[in-house]
Amino acid sequence: MGSVTNPAGSAAAGPAGTPVVGRGREVELLVAALEAGAHVVLEGPPGTGKTTLLRSVAEEAELPFVFVEGNAELTPARLVGHFDPAQVLERGYNPETFVDGPLAEALRSGALLYVEEINRIPEETLNVLITVMSEGELHVPRLGRITAHGGFRLVAAMNPFDAVGTARISSAVYDRVCRIAMGYQTAGDETAVVALRGPEVDEQWRAKVVSLVRRTREHPDVHVGSSVRGAIDIVRITTALAARRGRKTTDWRAGLDAALVALSGRIRLAESGSRSAEDIVRELYTAEFGQEPADDADEAPDGGDASGGA
Ligand SMILES: Nc1ncnc2c1ncn2[C@@H]1O[C@H](COP(=O)(O)OP(=O)(O)OP(=O)(O)O)[C@@H](O)[C@H]1O
Ligand SMILES: [Mg+2]
Repeated sequence: MGSVTNPAGSAAAGPAGTPVVGRGREVELLVAALEAGAHVVLEGPPGTGKTTLLRSVAEEAELPFVFVEGNAELTPARLVGHFDPAQVLERGYNPETFVDGPLAEALRSGALLYVEEINRIPEETLNVLITVMSEGELHVPRLGRITAHGGFRLVAAMNPFDAVGTARISSAVYDRVCRIAMGYQTAGDETAVVALRGPEVDEQWRAKVVSLVRRTREHPDVHVGSSVRGAIDIVRITTALAARRGRKTTDWRAGLDAALVALSGRIRLAESGSRSAEDIVRELYTAEFGQEPADDADEAPDGGDASGGA
């Protein structure tokens, strides 16, 4: 079983009391939809806070939730549960020899079933979810019926930029869920997220890092830019680099190196473009932070100029 389950209802993979920056409207909509008994899909690019939001709402309302990573290996048996072959040999097919998967567990305990990247799961697994949403119960061969208890709901997350199977999320699914769109947050909110997740740094510099990351979403040669995760990493890596190099955290070169590391793999280039990701990150970095200041370049620790840089 690749899935992580969370029977106790406390946060499975995050700090207790997950704070959410902004997102007042989305929180309100999610709470109302769940209260109304609806199943929900949170749709938005990576890193827009879908998991954070769900976790926070579930904790706040003290709703137990079960977490499943959606991928091609999530077969119906992995989602629903399976009979333990060794136990079946000894004791036959009965409820005691059935090992609950995340779906059976969520149905029985009336929990939220959170499926990440639902667009990546196989068609037959999707069909199981459609059946459960329509009928409120699941029929498992040789086991019988598993009925959904009161609080059971499906909350799915989906990335609209994901090339894998997004189109497959058929109208049958869409017709059974409510949709909450999660776009990128404002620059102010993203800066607050970075402040929450990253180390203490100069405020203005942090805001510029966020602005740099936001520029990647608008560059004509970039198909999908970086999420706020890129900004969190730049702040963390610059802090570590600057400390190693004996520089200030706002050091121009440490920032550029961190940006290259944090962003060059994150941005998805448009197919038509001919430039490298590094090239684009460098361009955006200079647009945001200016050219390398001469005094910074001279300010090598111990006055060394061993790098031979021009
Ligand atoms: N509104 C927010 N408040 C607090 N933290 C946030 C917020 N949005 C994003 N984050 C932080 O940004 C990172 C990404 O957020 P999260 O994992 O919730 O995004 P996601 O939409 O679930 O991403 P994915 O689509 O990749 O699963 C996390 O470190 C999270 O703490
Ligand atoms: Mg997520």
